[in-house]
Amino acid sequence: MAERGNFGSKLGIVLATAGSAVGLGNIWRFPYMTGQNGGAVFLLTYIGCIFLLGIPGMLSEFMIGRHGQANAAKAYEKVSGSRAWRWVGYLGILTGTVILGFYAVVAGWCCEYLYASVTGKTLGDADYVKDYFVSFSGDLWRPVLWGVVFLLATHFVVVRGVRKGIEKASKRLMPILMVLLIILVVASCMLPGAMEGIRFLLQPDFSKLTSHSMLEALGQAFFSLSLGTSCLCTYASYFKKNINLLQAASQIALLDTLIAIMAGLVIFPAAATVGINPDSGPSLIFITLPNVFQQAFGGIPALAYMVSILFYALLVFAALTSTISMHEIGTAFFSEEMHLPRQKSAWIITAATALICVLCAWSVGAKPEIQIAGVSLMDFCDQLTANVMLPLGGMLACLLVGWFVPKTTVYNEFTNDGQHNQQFYHIVLFAIRYVCPLAILFVFLHQLGIV
Ligand code: PHE
Repeated sequence: MAERGNFGSKLGIVLATAGSAVGLGNIWRFPYMTGQNGGAVFLLTYIGCIFLLGIPGMLSEFMIGRHGQANAAKAYEKVSGSRAWRWVGYLGILTGTVILGFYAVVAGWCCEYLYASVTGKTLGDADYVKDYFVSFSGDLWRPVLWGVVFLLATHFVVVRGVRKGIEKASKRLMPILMVLLIILVVASCMLPGAMEGIRFLLQPDFSKLTSHSMLEALGQAFFSLSLGTSCLCTYASYFKKNINLLQAASQIALLDTLIAIMAGLVIFPAAATVGINPDSGPSLIFITLPNVFQQAFGGIPALAYMVSILFYALLVFAALTSTISMHEIGTAFFSEEMHLPRQKSAWIITAATALICVLCAWSVGAKPEIQIAGVSLMDFCDQLTANVMLPLGGMLACLLVGWFVPKTTVYNEFTNDGQHNQQFYHIVLFAIRYVCPLAILFVFLHQLGIV
């Protein structure tokens, strides 16, 4: 068998995995989820989920992947020594594929907005900007076209392989994204009505905490960390043995949270300034952002124009580093397990996700009759994956590492054969064995009204 790919440098590993974590989850999903779930209190719950449950969950997937040195299904089998655990890998691959399908719709919207920024079409008053989004997303072909183009772009990076494609792209793009976000945070927070938006994000109102918002925060934390899809497990199978897993997980979680908060600090002050309700859902950023650019930089039209182009370009790239990681889960699986060439297995994933993408795009646009359980197919896929499949996948990864993998294996993976992190071993193991599975179980049962 050909040697498996691996990430070249430590920086490359952290940036590629962070590239998977940082994406539309931070800049598109986090703001509208926060908007719909009461603002600051959601942010607090979210941060709690990231650090108490997310980091132990990430570590579990990292250990399974690096020890298994294989695609998700095989890694779960190898690490547990039982074929039954392959199913957790299958669940992850399925979840990643469904997410990729609807994620491509939103990534396609970003592409349209990039194009519209270049041609100057996003410039206009607040009503114009709103109408623009409604008429574009309601079109039969445009959203579908962009979504599929985006999937093809993902496909071509993935077939180039791990090091040349994924690592190189992430290393270049992540730093630019950070710089641009900082500029936008400053610009947005200086807008005339900014204070109200800042308060909404940072001043908690505990009466808004419900069992549903807790579940949403948990789902959002896992979605944003790419946790529960076996994506982290697949990437970790390309990690070298000298990587300090605890350090990598903490750095990625911190960076990911920081970027989400920064996105909130761009969106909410701007939304408050132009009088848009922060609970308006998935279209939030597509309606507020063009307004931010105009209000903040409108005095210098050329600057407003440039910032808008740069921002949507980066959003597209941030989405791409995430879609690459979702695509890789299934591609690695088909090529290793079915012994298919990488090209062919990548096409299987691209075709399956393109179908989901088309149906989801129509369900929130031209064909609203595409519904499941009374909601659009897009919302259904989003809710099912984030609120059920991801927490379930994360919980099972923790259960496997906490209860079924031999202790020496866990110890050796966690400490790199006793080289570092010994002092954290027991506390992290405790979180993996008890805190993470029980908390997720509690949130599930609470949501069902059982506890
Ligand atoms: N974490 C990515 C984001 O925030 C989305 C993602 C989910 C990527 C699951 C891979 C797996 O945009």
